[in-house]
Amino acid sequence: MQTASNFDKRKFRSALGTFTTGVTIVTTRAQDGTPVGLTANSFSSVSLDPPMILWSLAKRSRCLPAFESGEHWAVHILSHRQEELSNRFGRAGEDKFDQVETERGAGGVPLLPNCAARMQCKTAFKYEGGDHIIFVGEVLEFDRSDVAPLVFQSGEYVVALRKGGRAISAGAYVSDERLNFSENFINYLLGRAYYQFLAPIRKDLANLTLSEDDYYILAVLLIKDGRTVSEINAMNSYTGHEATPELIQSLRRRGLLHAESQQEFGGCFLTDKAREAILNVLAAAKAREEHIFEQLGHGESISLKNALKNFIVQTDPGLPDPWSD
Ligand SMILES: Cc1cc2nc3c(=O)[nH]c(=O)nc-3n(C[C@H](O)[C@H](O)[C@H](O)COP(=O)(O)O)c2cc1C
Repeated sequence: MQTASNFDKRKFRSALGTFTTGVTIVTTRAQDGTPVGLTANSFSSVSLDPPMILWSLAKRSRCLPAFESGEHWAVHILSHRQEELSNRFGRAGEDKFDQVETERGAGGVPLLPNCAARMQCKTAFKYEGGDHIIFVGEVLEFDRSDVAPLVFQSGEYVVALRKGGRAISAGAYVSDERLNFSENFINYLLGRAYYQFLAPIRKDLANLTLSEDDYYILAVLLIKDGRTVSEINAMNSYTGHEATPELIQSLRRRGLLHAESQQEFGGCFLTDKAREAILNVLAAAKAREEHIFEQLGHGESISLKNALKNFIVQTDPGLPDPWSD
């Protein structure tokens, strides 16, 4: 146990870091009109009536004179898309507002757009807080959006997830106890998710008179044109779809691969017609992904993708990477 007399600063900071917070940027305007701001996660709510919030500012911050002299300031609760802005306003010595679009708030304070929420405040109280000054503000105006907030823990941005998740069985949410072995088996979960996601994409392919075999060949060529049949097959070996000489021949006949494709030991080249068709299919699939992820929410979408990427790494038999040259 660390006591006040033998505090290790680094350990204390790391203990404080276990408290998970959102991330804010607090802005004001200096007396000479310069916009001033910094990233702060010391934000906390204080009172509902009257509406009050607080945050603390390091005494060594170059922003201190502006916050001490100006009575208006704004707290921006950042969205999960504003990690870069958080980093920019979290570093000393940069022109933090360079190329940053702002609006004008109460008292001329610079307001940043696209945040999870914003609170325009007037200083109500200031307190000594060791090496920080605590600013308590009365909230004059606020706005919020439904976009997921940025979350910070132990010095890193993290993803917030609903705890427990929802158990799913045959398309309906049920209690965990009802899940039997096969309903919770990764084989079933991955397979069902894959086929459910793919169903409308299969229809799009059929409307373009493309088979799944065709799709896997064309998709690999879309990433990089001019691959040989053996390269295509090495990349697609995990799918079970093989580019046979007959298939290549058929794609050439249908005007989807250039006539010289895969003659002798040459590569295969997409025609404009094939490129357009496959781009249309992928655009529809991307729109479907966005729609589904909107329903899942930011946290689940990010962690689903991360989990799948890790799963792929764990189970990779050593496939060539289609995206590397
Ligand atoms: C996630 C995060 C949270 C921070 N929270 C605070 C805070 O609550 N108070 C503070 O004074 N500095 C905080 N900082 C550090 C300041 O943002 C940083 O020291 C400041 O931008 C330095 O520039 P300045 O000297 O121009 O103020 C935080 C930084 C990051 C990245």
